Amino acid sequence: MRRDPLQYLSEELDGLKSQGLYRHLRVLEGEQKAHASFDHRSVVNLSSNNYLGLTTHPLLRERALEATRTLGVGSGSVRTIAGTMSIHMELERRLAEFKRTEATVVFQSGFTANAGTVSSILSKDDFIISDELNHASIIDGARLSRATIKVFPHRDADAARAIVRDLPHERRRLVISDGVFSMDGDLGALPELCDVADEFGCIMMVDDAHASGVFGRNGRGTIDHFGLHGRVDIQVGTLSKAIGALGGYVAGSRALIDFLYHRARPFLFSTSHPPSVAASCLAAIEVLESEPQLIERLWENTRFFKSGLQTLGFNTGASESPITPVIVGDAALAMKLSDALFERGVFAQGIGFPTVPRGKARVRTIVTAAHTRDELQFALDSFENVGRSLGVI
Ligand SMILES: Cc1ncc(COP(=O)(O)O)c(C=O)c1O
Repeated sequence: MRRDPLQYLSEELDGLKSQGLYRHLRVLEGEQKAHASFDHRSVVNLSSNNYLGLTTHPLLRERALEATRTLGVGSGSVRTIAGTMSIHMELERRLAEFKRTEATVVFQSGFTANAGTVSSILSKDDFIISDELNHASIIDGARLSRATIKVFPHRDADAARAIVRDLPHERRRLVISDGVFSMDGDLGALPELCDVADEFGCIMMVDDAHASGVFGRNGRGTIDHFGLHGRVDIQVGTLSKAIGALGGYVAGSRALIDFLYHRARPFLFSTSHPPSVAASCLAAIEVLESEPQLIERLWENTRFFKSGLQTLGFNTGASESPITPVIVGDAALAMKLSDALFERGVFAQGIGFPTVPRGKARVRTIVTAAHTRDELQFALDSFENVGRSLGVI
């Protein structure tokens, strides 16, 4: 009989089970909302990236339906062959206006935007100077580029400067940071990193996935928040989080975007978005401009919930955004905390290695504009109850 050559995978999974790290995928029944049903349990949902509640916004829904009726359900090709529809071009034009850059290119996801960009603009003789907590898509793109990766300690621009100073100046050097770090909710040291990039003539790139629709005027991101227009060569944003639909984009110069049209492999070798996705994203930009109260409500909720957790005595790290981690250290404890909260009607995902470093496991919370005060108070009461019974506070 043939021996299963994938047997080792089951053994690795058994290892995860014995450490309490094995996770079932929670299944959402119905819509992605602030109060939702997962695994047949009605819960306050603190786990989505749906910052502004746009996944179910009537305008986005209507535009997606209209695009499906008039343009069909798929694009039928990659962008570089027959899959560039006029609605894709319209979205890129609107995003460039919104981000105040010469041009943008839309990718299938934020992940492919990062990985496809970093891997195509650099090659093996070049250098990438990267914050140690940068997103996996940056790390994968960096590996694919075959450039030498130099990691600097989290948010430490002096350490980045010391690295850059010793690199050969004739080579291409990319300084790269997340705008908002997805597991900690803190902001990249962007003004200081821009100074380093300016001083040494480096390319400056920011992954603004969690800042799109959240920071800056009308949600233009951290570059707008910090007043860094013109100093960041490559901005990546996502359409999958606050924008409520799916996709990622790169904003920058016309030459950068034209180059990515020719060389970014996910753009060249993977089919473009269905028209409904582009239509919803276009509607989302309209909403960002016409309903600024959504972003205001997001921040009011953020302040209320974050200060509530801190008053209860939880370790929320250095978060400055709607992402607030409750750091407990031990991965099994984080999973227990998450499970106990779920039993009480609060969904906040437990996160351990390899998503965060060993010993820094946490339950990650994300509030949205759509949460009511009652829902957030219920979540705080549940955190207090469960946190005390597990000895976290
Ligand atoms: C910092 C960061 N960058 C990029 C991404 C990828 O974005 P998307 O979900 O659109 O692929 C994520 C999302 O997980 C993220 O947290």
